[in-house]
Amino acid sequence: MSSQSRIMSKKSIEDFLFEVREKNKQLAITGILLLIQGKFVQYIEGPAEEIDRVYESINQDKRHTDLILLDSGELDERQFKDWSMAYKEVGDKQIKEIVGKEDLNLEEVFLKGKDIKNHPVLTVLYDFVKTLSS
Ligand SMILES: Cc1cc2nc3c(=O)[nH]c(=O)nc-3n(C[C@H](O)[C@H](O)[C@H](O)COP(=O)(O)O)c2cc1C
Repeated sequence: MSSQSRIMSKKSIEDFLFEVREKNKQLAITGILLLIQGKFVQYIEGPAEEIDRVYESINQDKRHTDLILLDSGELDERQFKDWSMAYKEVGDKQIKEIVGKEDLNLEEVFLKGKDIKNHPVLTVLYDFVKTLSS
């Protein structure tokens, strides 16, 4: 999860997604990227070595700041095998439907010492994935 450096135009989002998807196809990486209230929330999956390398590239990308790792682990099966990077801008209304309140207080997650594994943004991501796959 990270903070967008500046608001990107529709065109620059499209160009950015094109670049990301092309690279992910080459590296056998799949996943989903959400943009919620100026924050990127991303889930990526693939060969561990490639994931580590891409994470390092993502970490150095000037298009965002304050990157934090919410969760990581091993999987038997891909969750997004057909998606080189699904993308969705999640509006306030949808956030409210999922977590019952509009303001996720995402700033809080960047504060030191917070229990990020239980942060509502993960609920949004998991629920969103469930909605997509149902
Ligand atoms: C929020 C965010 C998500 C990104 N996700 C990916 C990704 O899934 N795969 C990828 O290759 N690059 C991703 N990038 C782009 C990388 O930061 C980087 O620009 C790209 O991998 C090219 O890096 P390179 O010049 O080191 O090859 C992402 C960037 C941002 C800001």
